[in-house]
Amino acid sequence: MKRGNFMNALVQPSVGCAAAAPSRRSFIRLVGGGAVLAATGSLAGCSGELPEAAVQPWRSPDREADTRRFMLAHALLAPNPHNRQPWIADLREAGRVHLTCDGERLLPETDPFGRQILIGCGAFIELAVIAAAQRGVSAKVELFPDGAPADQALPKRSRVATLVLGEPGSAAADPLFAQIVRRHTRKSAYANDRALPETLLRSWGETATRFGLRTGAATGAAAMDPVRKITREAYEIEATTASTWLESARLMRIGPGAITANPDGISLNSLMVRALHTVRLFDPMEVPVKGSSSLQRVMDRWVPFETASGFLWLASPDNTRPTQVAAGRAYVRAHLLATAAGVDMHPLSQALQEFPEMSGPRAAIHRTLGLGAGGETLQMLSRVGFATEPRGPSPRRSLESLLRT
Ligand SMILES: Cc1cc2nc3c(=O)[nH]c(=O)nc-3n(C[C@H](O)[C@H](O)[C@H](O)COP(=O)(O)O)c2cc1C
Repeated sequence: MKRGNFMNALVQPSVGCAAAAPSRRSFIRLVGGGAVLAATGSLAGCSGELPEAAVQPWRSPDREADTRRFMLAHALLAPNPHNRQPWIADLREAGRVHLTCDGERLLPETDPFGRQILIGCGAFIELAVIAAAQRGVSAKVELFPDGAPADQALPKRSRVATLVLGEPGSAAADPLFAQIVRRHTRKSAYANDRALPETLLRSWGETATRFGLRTGAATGAAAMDPVRKITREAYEIEATTASTWLESARLMRIGPGAITANPDGISLNSLMVRALHTVRLFDPMEVPVKGSSSLQRVMDRWVPFETASGFLWLASPDNTRPTQVAAGRAYVRAHLLATAAGVDMHPLSQALQEFPEMSGPRAAIHRTLGLGAGGETLQMLSRVGFATEPRGPSPRRSLESLLRT
């Protein structure tokens, strides 16, 4: 079969793609922008379901009878950067969980000091605490029992926390527990014309205060447009900087086989992208070049990320390691509160990143949000609102793969 015919065959309705079959030319026009295109799921009807094995950990974590396994089966559903899931849980000491940061699962280019990785660890800890409470057990969090990693060192193999379990009846159930399996980061377009519930804005503020942080929401065009401009510029920098683009490209899992083998990273499963990848018309390792049409297509895929009811920010008075963990705990609670209220969240972290090429947008986003005085640090920036497309769970590694027993 000739290449053109082969590609046409791949998009016939018989393969289950509801979108109109694109011409060969439009196929080729996708090259370079394919990754982002698939990640946003914007080819209606072409997004393949994720393989069941890759999302199985979401199905019934409450089946675990042992309290520590129950805690961890819920904790591993935590939001985390690039879905790296950098968690090792040591159960060898009775009544305790020792959480170590997996040094093989860091993001040295986009997260050179491991700040985002520690935020993900904080989210993991908070879900473990909530799950323990569901079993009536308190979990005291002892942070960095061997000492915190240096400010600008990657937290490789650092013991992030020891969770010390209390007696039966030592904790009351947390009402957010039910949201753990319902929470997903929704990355499609959001409605632009719906206001956020006042009660939710208030409870986000209370949550941040409880963890020693501050939160706020930029709403309305005057506040949101400068944030849109900075986040777009930041994304372009991340996409055109070879080291940061390639870090993401290496984490792309294309097709059900790759997603099942490595249920982490960036899952690309639309029929279109799988077809383009198979015939080598989509090469994730091709770095978009400034001024090129391939970069333009990548940037076109950013457009839905500018839709929202507002941008929620979470800032801390300092940027110590315990503060970064606290930011993760506060962030996941904010996301669970949003889920309970029917509101979606999607972090846009590029402008917050610490690699040198990002210093301009990083300063600009702090300035624009009125942060930065006396070391105040923006820890999370998310668009928030009402997604216009559903999104199911993202892949997770199995509970067994995290455990050291
Ligand atoms: C610290 C942190 C930074 C994140 N930054 C981004 C981001 O810049 N862009 C994005 O699409 N998702 C971002 N996310 C969301 C993750 O991609 C998401 O949590 C992960 O893929 C798992 O999916 P889930 O949240 O639906 O379970 C971030 C999450 C965390 C905790």
